[in-house]
Amino acid sequence: LPDKPWGGRFQEATDEEVLAYTESISFDQTLWRQDIRGSGAHAKMLVKVGILTGEEGDAILLGLSEIAEEFEKGTFPVRPELEDIHMNIERRLFEKIGTPAHKLHTARSRNDQVALDLRLYVVDEASALVGLLRDLLDVILEKAEGGVDLLMPGYTHLQPAQPITGGYYYLCHAERLLRDLDRVKDVRRRAGISPLGSGALAGTTFPIDRHYVADLLGLQGITGNGLDAVSDRDFAADFLHALSLLMVHLSQWAEEWILWSTSEFSVLEIPDRYMTGSSMMPQKKNPDILELTRGRAGRVLGDYVSLMTLLKALPGGYNRDLQEDKEQLFDAVSVGKRAVSMMTSLCGQARLKEEKLRSRLSSGGLLATDMAEDLVRMGVPFREAHAIVGRIVAHSDKLGLSLSEMSDEDLSRFYEGFPKGYAKCLTPEMAVSRRNHPGGPARERVLERISAIRSILAEF
Ligand code: ARG
Repeated sequence: LPDKPWGGRFQEATDEEVLAYTESISFDQTLWRQDIRGSGAHAKMLVKVGILTGEEGDAILLGLSEIAEEFEKGTFPVRPELEDIHMNIERRLFEKIGTPAHKLHTARSRNDQVALDLRLYVVDEASALVGLLRDLLDVILEKAEGGVDLLMPGYTHLQPAQPITGGYYYLCHAERLLRDLDRVKDVRRRAGISPLGSGALAGTTFPIDRHYVADLLGLQGITGNGLDAVSDRDFAADFLHALSLLMVHLSQWAEEWILWSTSEFSVLEIPDRYMTGSSMMPQKKNPDILELTRGRAGRVLGDYVSLMTLLKALPGGYNRDLQEDKEQLFDAVSVGKRAVSMMTSLCGQARLKEEKLRSRLSSGGLLATDMAEDLVRMGVPFREAHAIVGRIVAHSDKLGLSLSEMSDEDLSRFYEGFPKGYAKCLTPEMAVSRRNHPGGPARERVLERISAIRSILAEF
């Protein structure tokens, strides 16, 4: 037999440089678990339809489990001249069990084999990510619950806007990550069908049982067209999209907390063991883990663009370009998972500084919208109310007072109908508590949403 599974028609050995240029074993080893699982299911199917004997099937399964052990222990002998994970495993199997190993590839091509391996990888890693995101959401929801009464400014344009609470703030992150979780579950569902049986592109002449293989692998169904299935990497693009958006969300959170932990903002406390220092400036305490999360979002987005660019304009069927679908996927998965666990730890340890946040509520006219809406209740059309309060804000700025410190006399110069002692009733507590509709910041609405998200998570 030729040295390579495909060597029969070749007259000379592959050039060394070509070998090095074309191999993928240096990175597709990552798929060893999936490759072994896929081959095991394929072998069982070949036995079921009578292509292999029961003994041959058993020998293959035993050999594959020994190979799995070698990978676990790190003793698997990797041979770059065998190109990829698929041919490496098949050759090792032959060394262990002889001839039955040479029957395993019946009714199969590396094209449907690698498509299966990658789908199984996405299913496995999407499940792992679902678990990590749930952990993160659990921590965020705890923080939200602890913060339902913690008053703080909410920002738009990074300018103080209206009072909110820590609970409401944390829920903002929970909602984003809940959508990420949902997306990753969708990715898992769409990836979870079997392309095995597509062969190289046109199926096989053997009486295979594709559904049986899919069942054995715990997959939900089979692909519908072999020519499509060997070149379809939508499931990988889906995952990279979901990972990119997840990282974008984490980068937004990271950016916010980088800012909040500055001495200028100073509203977030991160324990020393989650900060890093400077080799030159002794006073420094830097939020490097947040900066790395922010930066790595760019890397994952690059991974996504890289795969999409690879797929763009690719002609039908398998093309070797597709071998380049793996490294960026593996990279994004590893970056995404690590970022989620790091943010889980950090979120559990960081603390919003209640007193500081409270002290920021008096400046910036945070209650101006409330005052305008009160004027509407007194019968003033909203546009006019907006203009009146705008003038009051400008005036209070000049006096260096907050809106709730304005005297009755001052207020009546802008609108006569203010009831006596009106300004004193204008408090951030009230601003929050009366925004009491679904999705609003009032205490019971935040608690209601926390428990709604918890029941959604319980069903995942
Ligand atoms: N190493 C290849 C890949 O990852 C496996 C499929 C190779 N198929 C082929 N016809 N060359 O894409």
